[in-house]
Amino acid sequence: MSTTAPTSGTLHGVVDLDVAGATISRHLYGHFAEHLGRCIYEGFWVGEDSPIQNTSGVRDDVVQALKDISIPNLRWPGGCFADEYHWENGVGPREDRPSMVNTHWGDVVEDNSFGTHEFMRLCELLGAEPYVSGNVGSGTVQEMSDWVEYLTRSGDAPMSRLRREHGRTEPWKVPFWGVGNEAWGCGGNMTAEQYAQLASQFSTYARNHDGNELYRIAAGPNRDDYHWTETLMKSISTLGGPVEERHHQRWQALSFHYYTHASDDWQHKGSATEFDAGEYHATMVNAWRIDEIVRGHSRVMDAYDPDATIGLVCDEWGTWWDVEPGTNPGFLFQQNTLRDALVAGLHFDVFHANARRLVMANIAQTVNVLQAMVLTDGARMVLTPTYHVFAMNAGHQDATSHPVHVVAGDARYEGEAGEYRTLTTSVSSREGSALVSVTNLDVERGGTVRLDLRGRDWTVAAATLLAAPSLQEHNTVENPTAVAPVPFDGARREGDTLVVELPAHSFATVQLTLG
Ligand code: AHR
Repeated sequence: MSTTAPTSGTLHGVVDLDVAGATISRHLYGHFAEHLGRCIYEGFWVGEDSPIQNTSGVRDDVVQALKDISIPNLRWPGGCFADEYHWENGVGPREDRPSMVNTHWGDVVEDNSFGTHEFMRLCELLGAEPYVSGNVGSGTVQEMSDWVEYLTRSGDAPMSRLRREHGRTEPWKVPFWGVGNEAWGCGGNMTAEQYAQLASQFSTYARNHDGNELYRIAAGPNRDDYHWTETLMKSISTLGGPVEERHHQRWQALSFHYYTHASDDWQHKGSATEFDAGEYHATMVNAWRIDEIVRGHSRVMDAYDPDATIGLVCDEWGTWWDVEPGTNPGFLFQQNTLRDALVAGLHFDVFHANARRLVMANIAQTVNVLQAMVLTDGARMVLTPTYHVFAMNAGHQDATSHPVHVVAGDARYEGEAGEYRTLTTSVSSREGSALVSVTNLDVERGGTVRLDLRGRDWTVAAATLLAAPSLQEHNTVENPTAVAPVPFDGARREGDTLVVELPAHSFATVQLTLG
């Protein structure tokens, strides 16, 4: 596709390809699957007897789609659900597992047919690292401690014996462990001070067994609650001794959540597909807040931990719209348009720029819930525009970031909704190649990004564009490729400058060969 839109917005940046920034952890491209609506059941899990093609009960099409974007980790079982989940009810013969009421999400009865063994098998099939969220809100220290032992310990310990009785001899490796979820809200309605104590207590007994080293992630603040972050950081810094040794005793990272809406009215978040320019601008103003929020938490953490030994994790992010008409309000099923893809493009540029402190991010959620990668309809599956951003950006995973120093530009929106920059970009490299991502948020105007790439020789190898005639465009089972990546001829070299000319509301990646 070539660019015909009149170019008006511009961004001019300087990038030193010979100066290494932080490594962009692959875990910034992480995922989240909760027992919520049709995410686990129907989305991932159909059971061994399903006519839908599956391996060990997990649908093959969804697994393949996620492997194709190199899914690095999967967070489970929640979310709010994690704090009412009792893992013992989800192991052993399925017919004997007790059921429970999923009070947060639709008040439906959960039969626990998808439990620990099924999740770990799913991760094996995906080639993704498990991120298990333990129950602090309604669970006990002993219960969490036992779950860790069940998962990760070999030998003749009580929990390893139980695991063997349930058919799994070898322990699994579990790198990531969540110490509760949203303790300020659905996870117990606690104050920061209350939670800081509990986080310390629960983390202490979430032990490392047999060489499995847990990276414990404390439930951090909502959005820009910097007091919460400061309280947690203080609770670590009062332990005494060098910080590297201290944080190994408790938790190793803290998480925060940030969702993008078109309005601050929780009852009217806006339609996923039917929105006007005003709602679009409000969405982008809100989406840009991720930048200030990541930097804000990082600043607080820097004051207590200047060497960034404690990680910041954004383990829930994405758009949250009103549910699709006619669907269960508790199931959070929403369509996904080009607008969602642009929100994702912007978030990743922010994540890359903050990769020194930000070590993991998990989109909410992977299948059939909120800003999903894939939507299923019976045996059929659709890749969303957001999926394509993850695919096009996959080359940033574990690459070296190169900060973009913005020196000039007039790409801005100013209006009733507020103001925001309409062009955003990020650059990374590995061995002999570099990847440049560019997002043009402008509703009507094209945009030109000019990057002076210094320190290495380079040539444009290939470029890909994600665009559509309208922002409302989305993929359905009837038309699954309404928004899909295409080869792009809008990137060229002019002297030492990479020039990328984007159509209105579009996302592009440019691959460079480095000399
Ligand atoms: O992702 C949906 C919900 O949003 C999660 O369960 C909760 O943690 C957050 O409030």
